[in-house]
Amino acid sequence: IHGSILHYDPSGPKGAPLVTLVHGFPFNRSLWKGQLPALKRRFRVLSYDQRGMGASTLGEAPQLMERYADDLLDLLDWVGERRTALVGLSMGGYVALRALQKAPERFWALGLCDTRADADPDAAKLGRAAGVALLRKRGVGPFVDGMLPKLLAPQTLQRRPAIVKALRAMMLRSREDGAVNALVAMVSRTDSRSLLPTLRMPALCLVGQHDAITPPALARGMARAVPKAKCVVLKGAGHVSNLERPAEFNRALMLFLEKARPR
Ligand code: MLT
Repeated sequence: IHGSILHYDPSGPKGAPLVTLVHGFPFNRSLWKGQLPALKRRFRVLSYDQRGMGASTLGEAPQLMERYADDLLDLLDWVGERRTALVGLSMGGYVALRALQKAPERFWALGLCDTRADADPDAAKLGRAAGVALLRKRGVGPFVDGMLPKLLAPQTLQRRPAIVKALRAMMLRSREDGAVNALVAMVSRTDSRSLLPTLRMPALCLVGQHDAITPPALARGMARAVPKAKCVVLKGAGHVSNLERPAEFNRALMLFLEKARPR
């Protein structure tokens, strides 16, 4: 698709409604491993590696947020799917909101997980610049070491080494070109806040109680702005709430999707 080979996994029972999962940064589709068994029992699921991440190639750089959103819509066309529920975590949420702005009729439900609708504040823009410089100068390892502590709740970092190790390993599979490109795409993304009151599908804002990157106040604000939305705060989780609290995350997501399920 548009100069990139996008890797995706379709799964779940034939004929069931589709749920598409969009991972965050700097992750890949294995982020959803803890969600797939629950989702697949009731829905078809499409998870994919965004361009430049996981197994998917970047194509010609630079590629901005518009391209990541078009990738999602083009991938749905490629697999012959007209409508889907859309669940995006963090950068996946930025991509989801932009795709929704372009083609709202294609989505029957929206899950916004540990994400935000506004564009980067100035401090975040400077952080992205430092991230690009670090990736270029020292590579993926030091970048991951700097970012990892901000992604997880303090209790996860202190007491759950298996989760820290798994997340670190996933992040270390990132490539420099893909990571730099994603930072540039995120820093130059548009503000999606004006979209929220226009959304007609049911939405769920899920967020970790200790999410330091996209804190609960942002999720509550999005849920207030979307006409049919609910916010669930996951106790003891940080920014990667689906990894840190999979049972609670899955319960909230499955309840929401079942209720929104097209009849
Ligand atoms: C992510 O998890 O996708 C990133 O932390 C998002 C961001 O840096 O804004």
